[in-house]
Amino acid sequence: MKDLLSLRTLSNEEIMNILNEALEFKKGKEFSLKNKIIANLFFESSTRTQYSFNVAQEKLDMKVINFNPTVSSLNKGESFYDTVKTFESFGIDAVVIRHSKDRYYDDLKRLKCPIINGGDGKGDHPTQSLLDLMTIYEEFKHFEGLKICIVGDIKHSRVAHTNFEIMNRLKMECYTSGPIEYKEDGYNYIDFNTCISEMDIIMLLRVQNERHSEDEKLRMSNDEYLERYGLTMEKVKKMKPNSIIMHPAPFNRGVEISDDVVECEKSRIFTQINNGVYVRMSVIKRSLTE
Ligand code: CP
Repeated sequence: MKDLLSLRTLSNEEIMNILNEALEFKKGKEFSLKNKIIANLFFESSTRTQYSFNVAQEKLDMKVINFNPTVSSLNKGESFYDTVKTFESFGIDAVVIRHSKDRYYDDLKRLKCPIINGGDGKGDHPTQSLLDLMTIYEEFKHFEGLKICIVGDIKHSRVAHTNFEIMNRLKMECYTSGPIEYKEDGYNYIDFNTCISEMDIIMLLRVQNERHSEDEKLRMSNDEYLERYGLTMEKVKKMKPNSIIMHPAPFNRGVEISDDVVECEKSRIFTQINNGVYVRMSVIKRSLTE
């Protein structure tokens, strides 16, 4: 029974095992976890992560509980720990948790049921990073030497934090770009408009407005953001022939990505979303069977 809290504690071999299993699931492999019960405890909003976990759980024949924090006893002052402990006491087999607090799982060390991290604050988003890696591996069949630029609000993005570290470990050449205010110390930063033609992968991020303090807010119109840091068809035309565009979504059309780029031939955004189901099947199987 294994947690998945961060990819930092996984070896490259363990990451590849999860990806290879996910690729098998995508090809149609079946596996049943009938009679296992899993609870999705999303204390922060989600569409893709929560509902692709649901689809993955359905494909694995699991029994699924979806917690709704807005009508729960959190409203009566019950703590985060006691809420999760309550679900463990029901006898469920695993929990998927998303929470706005970085490393929320440090508060849950006394729990015994496996925790799968669906995103913690600005910290980590391990299943997002795995589905990103799956999408890149499907496309290029390797990682080493690929050039990626992650563009946008790097500082407040758990996707950027997990990806930058793991992709570097897999020997990809990783760069970041976007508003200088949101640059992360220690990450390679380059000018977006001059790097476009050199990248194999351009990964766009949304500005994480909900994580900004008042003095971190960007005073810039959507048009100006698109012009300076967004991807338009004019810029797509400068990209390398086999290069691809990624975005963890949700995306803001007309801000970091123009409307016509979202579903253009180079975009793999909806492939990423589809791969999320198979990666999450693989991660749940690992947590409940290994
Ligand atoms: N990419 C992602 O985590 O999307 P959601 O916030 O909709 O889950």
